[in-house]
Amino acid sequence: MKFSQLTIVALVLIGCESYIEKPGPRYVATKGEPWPKPQTQIKNDEYFVLRPQFFEFQVKNNAKCTLLHDAVLRYQSIISGLYESVDENLKFVSHQHHKKEWLSDNNFIGHLESAIVDLSGSCDDNDYPSQDMKENYSINITPDNAEIQSSTIWGILRGLETFSQLIYIADDYVSLRINTTSISDYPRFAHRGLLLDTSRHFIPVKKMLENLDAMAYNKLNVFHWHIVDDQSFPYVSRKYPELSEQGAYKPSQVYTPAVMQQIVEYARVRGIRVITEFDTPGHTRSWGVAHPEVLTACGGNLAGEYGPMDPSKVETYNLLAGLLGEVSETFPDQYIHLGGDEVDFDCWESNANISKFMKKENITDYKGLESYFVQRVINIVDALKAKSIVWEEVFENGVKLPTETIVQVWKGPWEQTMSEVTLSGKTAILSSCWYLDHLDSYGDWQKFYNCEPYNFTGVDSQKKLVLGGEACMWAEVVNEFNVISRVWPRASAAAEKLWSAENVTDIKEATLRLEEHVCRMNRRGVGAQPPSGPGFCP
Ligand SMILES: *[C@@H]1O[C@H](CO)[C@@H](O)[C@H](O)[C@H]1NC(C)=O
Ligand SMILES: *[C@@H]1O[C@H](CO)[C@@H](O)[C@H](O)[C@H]1NC(C)=O
Ligand SMILES: *[C@@H]1O[C@H](CO)[C@@H](O)[C@H](O)[C@H]1NC(C)=O
Ligand SMILES: *[C@@H]1O[C@H](CO)[C@@H](O)[C@H](O)[C@H]1NC(C)=O
Ligand SMILES: *[C@@H]1O[C@H](CO)[C@@H](O)[C@H](O)[C@H]1NC(C)=O
Ligand SMILES: *[C@@H]1O[C@H](CO)[C@@H](O)[C@H](O)[C@H]1NC(C)=O
Repeated sequence: MKFSQLTIVALVLIGCESYIEKPGPRYVATKGEPWPKPQTQIKNDEYFVLRPQFFEFQVKNNAKCTLLHDAVLRYQSIISGLYESVDENLKFVSHQHHKKEWLSDNNFIGHLESAIVDLSGSCDDNDYPSQDMKENYSINITPDNAEIQSSTIWGILRGLETFSQLIYIADDYVSLRINTTSISDYPRFAHRGLLLDTSRHFIPVKKMLENLDAMAYNKLNVFHWHIVDDQSFPYVSRKYPELSEQGAYKPSQVYTPAVMQQIVEYARVRGIRVITEFDTPGHTRSWGVAHPEVLTACGGNLAGEYGPMDPSKVETYNLLAGLLGEVSETFPDQYIHLGGDEVDFDCWESNANISKFMKKENITDYKGLESYFVQRVINIVDALKAKSIVWEEVFENGVKLPTETIVQVWKGPWEQTMSEVTLSGKTAILSSCWYLDHLDSYGDWQKFYNCEPYNFTGVDSQKKLVLGGEACMWAEVVNEFNVISRVWPRASAAAEKLWSAENVTDIKEATLRLEEHVCRMNRRGVGAQPPSGPGFCP
């Protein structure tokens, strides 16, 4: 998927004008500032020193809930990892050397030895994150105690993440500190996604999991898996194994049911939904290696080629019903993405059987034919009690969509489309301004940061229909070796736009926080690229 757009090279901040280089990093990272920025935070100067070997989370309720228990262990280990990144030699000399300094510092209020984790609502090991999950949480760190509170497991996950981000390496590069503070936080948008395309290049499971880690570190909660496309079909179907046997690039570049299960579970315990996309009727060339009968055989001067799926054939809908039925069992999310973008009408036009079919069905144009097709696929999804997401073309071509179908806006100018979609009463997610395959110089995260999803003409009731957005990583020139560094921290910009308050727009302030956040991701094993120029991680 691509569209040409005049990209503006954002050199404003990085100083193409007069900039006199000084030694040292261009931007000095913050210490203990979360990304994305919490909705409200009261900051203080008092701090605890935190020694991971003498620190523990105390689970107040639901201690038997595995989801909670495992999350606490994960964050315990992340905090220990931060300490391990502190220089060993310095650690050795630290004790004597710096003890006095702490004791003479009025802001030093002791060692933090525990934090209470208070999940007040219920916790079920089988909980699956959803569109309307609550992610609110609060953190209170006072001289007396530290507490992370939420009524849901999802809120606790977000709270643990923020808590871990409040811990910083002190200026002495030796000790870990955490300031007293009070945070009350919740997401601005419910749908905060990242699309990854695994058809143009295959992404191995190890990188998929690293990416899910990074999503959790940025509080993104939807992994949109664009799993198949024209070029390859890596999804292994139990019902139709021939699809990947013949349609994958090679036998090793596939996702088996067990691997998909592993990815869904890894995401779930981090509060991330997995929504798979089976894009039709276009972008389906790889389906046709094993099942040429479902594709349109082009005629005329296109003879010998295959086009989009053939909407006139019963075989097409039978295969889709079988496959989507299986998909809805493999992936527990209520939503399936049905694609519907960039359908090429020339091949349909060149096929005499399709012309005959249109006449019989009283369909007068190819938009109408696409509508007919999508309508039938939506009926299949309805029968599965699933819900659908579609690309904006489906809406624009006038397909009658069920109320709960979400329209994903990806083209420009998006303001007009967002306005139309929401005016018609449909919910929308925005992607147009977060195409990660569009590269500019430097880290180019600022252009993603400057996008405001509400910046379109519409009344309040329309704005309420904006569920959020997704950053999109199309993989034409991305594979396992560069996917992480291309996505991160550029997707972090979208993540903050989708989580933080509307008035969090200060690029200068964000620049310093993002320096810290990238170092944080790096220390945790995520190969994010430097965001804004020369510098180093402590
Ligand atoms: C933490 O406290 C120190 C002083 O002890 C202060 O300089 C720093 O700005 C505080 N950091 C945060 C994130 O509140
Ligand atoms: C979560 O935060 C939103 C926004 O402030 C609020 O409307 C909602 O009541 C909060 N929910 C809980 C469970 O605290
Ligand atoms: C049209 O359908 C007939 C009968 O199924 C088939 O033999 C023929 O090859 C089809 N023509 C095209 C162009 O697909
Ligand atoms: C197409 O239109 C004709 C004439 O209006 C009508 O008799 C026929 O039932 C229609 N066919 C379909 C499939 O809607
Ligand atoms: C909002 O849209 C206007 C008009 O298109 C544009 O000039 C402005 O830069 C946009 N602001 C943001 C924050 O996106
Ligand atoms: C954003 O708005 C809130 C509520 O009006 C206010 O408390 C906060 O200071 C504002 N933040 C910024 C960065 O302007």
